Parts: sequence; structure tokens; C-alpha cells
Amino acid sequence: CNYLVEKDRKSICDILCSGLQRLEYRGYDSAGIGIDGDTKKEVVLFKHVGKVAALRKHIAESKIDMSKTFVSQVSIAHTRWATHGVPSQVNCHPLRSDPTNEFIVVHNGIVTNSGELRLVLQKRGYKFESETDTEAVAVLSKYVWDSQPEQRFTFTALVKTVLTELEGSFALVFKSVHFPGEIVTARRGSPLLIGVKTDKKLKVDFVDVEFGSAQDAEKQLDTLAPPAAEGGLLAPPSLGSQTLARSQSRAFMSEDGMPQPIEFFIASDASAIIEHTKRVLYLEDDDIAHVSEGELHIHRLRRNEGQSAVRAIETLEIELAEIMKGKFSHFMQKEIYEQPESVVNTMRGRVNFDTHKITLGGLKQYLPIIRRCRRIVFSACGTSFHSCLATRAIFEELTEIPVSVELASDFLDRKCPIFRDDVCIFLSQSGETADTILAMRYCLERGALCVGVVNTVGSTISRETHCGVHINAGPEIGVASTKAYTSQYVALTLMAIQLSEDRISLTERRNSIIEGLHKLPSQIKQVLESDREIQQLASQTFRGSRSLLIMGRGFQYATCLEGALKIKEISYMHSEGILAGELKHGPLALIDENLPVIMVMTRDSLYPKVQSALAQVTARKGQPIIICNDDDDSIPANARTIRVPRTTDCLQGILNIIPLQLLSYHLAILNGFDVDFPRNLAKSVTVE
Ligand code: G6P
Repeated sequence: CNYLVEKDRKSICDILCSGLQRLEYRGYDSAGIGIDGDTKKEVVLFKHVGKVAALRKHIAESKIDMSKTFVSQVSIAHTRWATHGVPSQVNCHPLRSDPTNEFIVVHNGIVTNSGELRLVLQKRGYKFESETDTEAVAVLSKYVWDSQPEQRFTFTALVKTVLTELEGSFALVFKSVHFPGEIVTARRGSPLLIGVKTDKKLKVDFVDVEFGSAQDAEKQLDTLAPPAAEGGLLAPPSLGSQTLARSQSRAFMSEDGMPQPIEFFIASDASAIIEHTKRVLYLEDDDIAHVSEGELHIHRLRRNEGQSAVRAIETLEIELAEIMKGKFSHFMQKEIYEQPESVVNTMRGRVNFDTHKITLGGLKQYLPIIRRCRRIVFSACGTSFHSCLATRAIFEELTEIPVSVELASDFLDRKCPIFRDDVCIFLSQSGETADTILAMRYCLERGALCVGVVNTVGSTISRETHCGVHINAGPEIGVASTKAYTSQYVALTLMAIQLSEDRISLTERRNSIIEGLHKLPSQIKQVLESDREIQQLASQTFRGSRSLLIMGRGFQYATCLEGALKIKEISYMHSEGILAGELKHGPLALIDENLPVIMVMTRDSLYPKVQSALAQVTARKGQPIIICNDDDDSIPANARTIRVPRTTDCLQGILNIIPLQLLSYHLAILNGFDVDFPRNLAKSVTVE
């Protein structure tokens, strides 16, 4: 969104497409843009199925005049991961209200009542062309506009009216031929941030939130000509508070009070805009932001208790280089190789290796509450769930507090009882996973202390929890999580150690873990040296196999589950993590000379039990590949092994997962699959 900044159409399209390309990891089955046409009252759409590169080509091949310049303009763009409707050009965003593109909308999330809205709007003669939930939002916008004979709505008031009819979760951006040069964006449940770019110094480093009062709403009601209400849906637009006081602060005036050239970048993720500006503000749920004539205004209908009335403009610390591939072929490969540094970044400033003291600043004032709690409940999805499982035993051992580990969706399905004296910990790389966010809000409502452990600064979970820890692994782009897993593992271990620091009897145990953490980066490097060997294993042993079992127990059960998930996610091969203790209760029936098996058999107190599982597997002609310690001479001489350095039992999973990450990577490459963008999966699952 530019104001007084001259740009030709080609640069505008380039900015949009580059931004989308940085977001491809979130969804990539189709992409589209909506830009200004040749007259102010015209909006042009370009959409294409597939990756953003295909959209770029489509735009380049069109007849549109790319040299046309704009001094002020607004454009929107979206890359889609289908929830409602197959990936197709017509289902691709932006969705429009009608063939003349009066209102166009891009949307992340799900509008759960779109079916009802569609029916009501169709009854009133409105036509739909796509199968998406989002189209109902675009058509509803037109309906609200049409329902005002004198068309006195401001853009913000119109969007507010639309939003009051929507159920579900969304981050939405609206553009309309009726409001050239203006844009409105709103969120409920899906992330949204606004980057600000200007050459001059900003007068303010925050934006005031403008609240609509009940009086405003009533005044508005009088002036509206409501459409006939029908079945509760689309009742008269009741809260279109058009008359909200104009901004108290001209949010972005320069020091001299003159209008200044300025650009706003609205995105769901900082990586899309970081190359343009590092100054961003994060919108909160139910914020409605309006940009027009170089000003940004943030509106809300009402002020929630305890909620801030300003949105601070923050300066992002991440560098663009951090989110680029560098010398690696894929982001996933780069991220696997970053682990010696990413675990250091997780520990930086938090671990004193001389005094053996851990300080997690974000938890400090809450430690007494956590230590006194009745139980700790972890909730997460996917890989983040596995990092909770991996550290559960050390949490229980060091804190002596019962710990339960929950898949966020199942936790919600069961409406798990939660009490004020529970401590609930939410693990999420993105901080935006819908199920985890819902679980968090469920626990907040029940008065439990909520702790976030996330990678993405400014994400919903990091903002809405009472306290927490950033894992500081750096941006993770590959859909299959790797470095976030090992950093979550480290962060949770640090948390368990800090919680137990008042227990003298555990000093020795804590110190040995801290020593283990000290050696971890160099040991990870050592494991990465076996990359070629694992590549060979992938091509010689597993290529063409249809299934793979990964077995282990104790601390290594999570390694098995996470390894199997990596293999499923990117090499599309069926793979299962098996608790070796359960072998005799079913999985043993699968074992024969053909089924590939990996056994995780590093030294810890359960080693003899895993040895006996190995004996049971080999007795059924299984020929497992064994992940074991490099100094282990008890492994049968004829067994094929992957050797890893030895560390403290509770940290061993960090080293053991790396060969499995590499194996999944090589299997995917061998099969010619898109490692960073596996089919049907998205990096950040912001829908239930
Ligand atoms: C998706 C991703 C996984 C991730 C999971 C949880 O399924 O593909 O890699 O582990 O979401 O995401 P979160 O951001 O909450 O850790």
C-alpha cells in the first residue's frame, strides 16, 4: 500500500510475488494478486494454480501495461493451501464479490458459517463462482454495500458490519473499487502484522487504538437502512460504527507535519516483508486496521479489560539472509545443518557453564507458582508434541511434578479438566497452530498459568500466554520441522533444570546435564559427518521400501515417533514409531526378513530391555539397522549400525534424531519429492 511513492506496475507485481514466495512454505497450491487497473475504479486480478513462479509467468504473459506508474496505490496477494474447494484458478485468492471485482478479499483461516451465509446471499440473488468459504466474505461485502442506498459507509464501517456476521477464524484483507487507495484488514485467530516503511523519522512509535462506543453504534443504527432480517442471519447491520471518531493521532505524520511518502506492508508473517522494512506492529484479535492517505488507523468495537490501547511499532531483529537457503539445496537441509548453532542460540545468555546456573528470564517471576503447581500439562501438535514427549521424563524426574503430554486437538476433543493450580505449557514452532492456540485459550479461561514455548517472536501464543521461553532457533522454513525440534528439546530441558534448582539432592544430576549441553554442539557436528553414509543407506537399503518401523523405548520413544513423522512427511513412505516395550503386543507380527526396521539402541538404563527387543526381532529374521553409541562394542558384529556420540541419557535423543532427519531428507530426494513443500502439508496449520 503506497502513498506518494511512485512505482510502476511491474515493481508492484514483483513486490507482491516476492512476498508470496517467502510465504510459500505456508501454502502453495495456488497464488493470486489483485492490483489497480488503469482507472481508479478498476481492479485487475491475476491467479494461477501451482507455485508463485507460475503466477509470475502468467502475469508476464498477460497484455497488461507493466510500465504504468502509480503515485499511490493498493494491491493484495495470497498464496493458498486449500481447505474449502480444490486447488483451482477459480478457488484461488483474491476472491471477488462479482465479475466487476467491486470487492476483493484474501483470507487465511476458515469461515465456519460460510455455508449459511452463501445460502442467504444466494436467496437474495447474489451469485457465487467458487467453492471457497472466502467468497462469502467478498459477496457479503457487496451485499452490505448494496444495502446502503446512499452508500454512506466508510470502508472500515462496512468491514465491521461484515465481520459481525462471520464465525470462525480469519486474517482478512479487503480492497474495493469504491475505496481506491484504501485497504482494510482484520484478524480473529490468524496472525497479521503491518510493516511501515518511510524515509523520514516517524513521529510516533505506536498507533492508538480507536474504540467505537455504544453511542456511535446506535447513531449508526439510525442511519442505516437495514435489509429485512432473515432467520437470524444477516440481521440488520447492527454495529457498523461508521461515525467512529476520526483518528486522534495522524498516525504517521512527519516531524514537520507535512504528508510524507509512506508504504505499508500487511502480511501474515514477517518473512514476507522483511526485505522492505523491519518496523512492524502486530494486530491483536478483533483489531480492524484501515490504511488511507498515508495514515494507519486501528479500530476496535470495544476495549477488553486489561488490553492495551496502543499497538507498538517494533523493530524486527531477523535478517533476510537468515531466511534464505544459502549454499544448501533445500531449506530443510540447511536447517538440519544449522543445528550446532541453533541449539547454541537456544542456550545463549541462559546457561552459565561455569556456575552451572540456568536463567530463563521469561519465567523468572513465575517459578514459585510453577514449582507449587499440582501438575504440568503440555499441549502441542506434530513435531512440537514429540519434543514434549522427549522431555517429559526429565521434567518428572527433576521437578517431581506429574506431567501429562497432550495432542492439542485431542485435549480439546476431550474437554480435559483444567484447574487454577495447573500449569499448562504450549509448544509451537510457529506460535500460530490453531489447535494449540485453542487449547491455550481453553486453559486461560480456566485460570491456569499458561506458558508458551515458541520460536516465532510476536506470534499469538507468545503474546497470549502469561509467560514463556523463545527457543531462538531462527526462522524455520522447511515444512518438516528439524532445528525447531532440537531447540525445543533444549529449551524444555533448561526449563526442567531451572525448576529443580532448589533441590540440593539433584545437583549432581543437573550438573551432568549441563555438562552434556556444553558438548552438544560439537557432538551434533560429529553426527552430521555421517551424512554420506546415511545417504547410501537411503539409496541401498530403504529405496523402494513401502514401510519402515522405528523402535526404541524410554527417552528414545519420542525419537522413534519423530523420526517416523519426518519420513512420512517428506518421503511419503509409511513409517511408524514403535515403543519397544509394546513389541510383543502387536508389532512383532509384522517382522520378517523383508520389513525394514531401525532400532534406536543408545546406552541408558533401559539398554538391556532394548537388547531383548533386538533379539526378538532378529529371531524373526528381522535385520534391523541399529542407531547406537560410537563406543558400544556389545552390538552384534554382523549388524548394520549408525554410530552417534554418547551424551547424558536425557539429551541423547537430540543426537539420535539427526540421522533420521537426514534419512528422511535423502529418501525424499531419491524419490524426486519436493523436500521443502511436501504435498498436502503446510508449515503453519492455522485452521482446526
Ligand atoms: C505442521 C507442521 C509440522 C509442525 C506442526 C506443529 O504440521 O508441518 O512441522 O510440527 O504443524 O506446528 P507448530 O508451529 O505448532 O510447532
